[in-house]
Amino acid sequence: MAVTVHEKESKLAEIAAGIKSCARCELYRTRTQAVPGEGPADARVMLIGEAPGWNEDQQGRPFVGAAGKFLEELLGAAGLSRGDVFITNIVKSRPPGNRDPLPDEIAACVPWLERQIEVIDPDVIVTLGRFSMGQWFPGERISKIHGQPRKVGRRLVVPMYHPAAALHQQALRATIVEDFGKLPKFLAESAMQRDIEDAKDEPPAAQMSLF
Ligand code: URA
Repeated sequence: MAVTVHEKESKLAEIAAGIKSCARCELYRTRTQAVPGEGPADARVMLIGEAPGWNEDQQGRPFVGAAGKFLEELLGAAGLSRGDVFITNIVKSRPPGNRDPLPDEIAACVPWLERQIEVIDPDVIVTLGRFSMGQWFPGERISKIHGQPRKVGRRLVVPMYHPAAALHQQALRATIVEDFGKLPKFLAESAMQRDIEDAKDEPPAAQMSLF
């Protein structure tokens, strides 16, 4: 039986509570608060960034600083708004001084992300920057694979540049805008594939009723 949105919401709230009190790595000592992520529990698109920065650590919400503003612009270019997607990070607590997250911090935090993905069950995952990209495409270079979706199980995973990188390097701006512009097509392809696979799983009588 399909899981209801209400059930997904309560599972996500449970996960968020776990994240907020998590002490699996040392970042809990220096954070103001952990940032679990936000968005509809049944979002079809999930965006995964690096880690909270200063603003996010203060407010407890992902992508609320300058990179977040640009991210909203990018979503707009894809005909989406912030409220349509689930936004989170691979590491849920701010690394001090905004340093890169360490491998053991990522390893400690990834089980939370995996649980969020399992509950939301999105059609498309967009990785923003090299740390979340490394989760699905270890050893690959973002300059080579950005904007190119890969099928992972039932979903598409699309590696994209981090919006903050594009804010700092003007040359990347057009590239990331173009990559985000492809999102509606990826979403349509992935949703169609899901419908086909769901229909295959249905008993024959239910398949007949499709026609
Ligand atoms: N950069 C990220 O990767 N995540 C945020 O939440 C904010 C900035």
